[in-house]
Amino acid sequence: MRCSTHRHRAGWEAEAASVVDEVKAMNKEEEPIVVIRKRLQPMMYNNVYRILFDQRFESDEDPLFVELKMLNGERSHLAQSFEYNYGDFIPVLRPFLRGYLNICRRVAERRSRLFKDQFVQIRKKLVSMEEATEKCGIDHILEAQLKGELNEENVLCIVENINSTGIETTLWGMEWCIAELVNHPDIQTKLRLELDMVLGPGVQITEPDIARLPYLQAVIKESLRLWTPVPLLVPHMNLEHAKLGGFDIPAESKVLVNAWWLANNPDHWKKPEEFRPERFVKEEAGVEVNGNDYRFLPFGVGRRSCPGILLAMPMLGITIGRLVHNFELLPPPGHSNIVHSSASTFRTTPPFS
Ligand code: HEM
Repeated sequence: MRCSTHRHRAGWEAEAASVVDEVKAMNKEEEPIVVIRKRLQPMMYNNVYRILFDQRFESDEDPLFVELKMLNGERSHLAQSFEYNYGDFIPVLRPFLRGYLNICRRVAERRSRLFKDQFVQIRKKLVSMEEATEKCGIDHILEAQLKGELNEENVLCIVENINSTGIETTLWGMEWCIAELVNHPDIQTKLRLELDMVLGPGVQITEPDIARLPYLQAVIKESLRLWTPVPLLVPHMNLEHAKLGGFDIPAESKVLVNAWWLANNPDHWKKPEEFRPERFVKEEAGVEVNGNDYRFLPFGVGRRSCPGILLAMPMLGITIGRLVHNFELLPPPGHSNIVHSSASTFRTTPPFS
């Protein structure tokens, strides 16, 4: 699938703009708190569904969005449950997992049916009736199916995969970044100053601007370092026997890479427990998110690294940039900061009020 970043950026910018407009339109007396997940989650679905299906959800009450979010949530919950882990690591206990595996199967079937009936088939119909104006991600995947390179199951697996890997991960990245900015008003002010100086007061950030905003990039990197959204990456498997650091790793082992520890090991980072974006403009200025330094692998590295990095980084930059430029992000009333278990609630005021 060819996903040109620039082709889709207008959509992400429009989605971020509508979040800003909605929050500005809220009555601060009646609703003094913004539950940011309620705004950013539909935005992230729209960002991804625009690319994949050229489709967006009008509101978080759209029944299709509600069902999709519920089923994706169930899948995510099952993948993070205790049962998932013990079955993978202690195979002899697998017979006790029958009930759990049945639920997994049912959720997988319901999700697959939803993706097929409500998205893939509808898109096929639009294309066959020549009502689709522009090609989107799924069109390329369906072309590969027509050529015999993929079968229907493969197509649905790709849709499933993007739903599981692309939406919540980026949302978590946004939420942690916002929480750290709320807890570090000095850093928030410095970032707003950069936006004002480089773009001009009130000029809204667009994707190409990100390259001219080194402090914004540093804030995002620092947040991904301290709050790595996928801390153990995705499990890998070595096909052949390997020796690493004096350890023997038998062929076909499940290998988990602790990317969070690589990025937070005090032997390799100066005061890693501190949220200090300056490190990425000073002593760690050469460290990028693309895996050019093995201490920092938020998207993995190599052949199986995250293909969504080209989408996630601009989405993060546009969203964080617009929120900080338009609002002062504050902890909820009665709190002096955001405790990490409630990172999705904050309060806004227009900046400098
Ligand atoms: C901040 C946001 C994101 C983070 C931190 C992230 C992180 C990751 C990580 C760590 C992996 C596994 C890499 C490995 O094990 O070596 C991965 C895989 C993947 N990501 Fe992302 N991701 C993000 C956003 C996205 C987006 C927006 C998409 C697509 C819309 C996406 C699609 C995928 C896919 C399809 C895979 C599986 C690749 C494979 O199995 O070969 N990700 N991601």
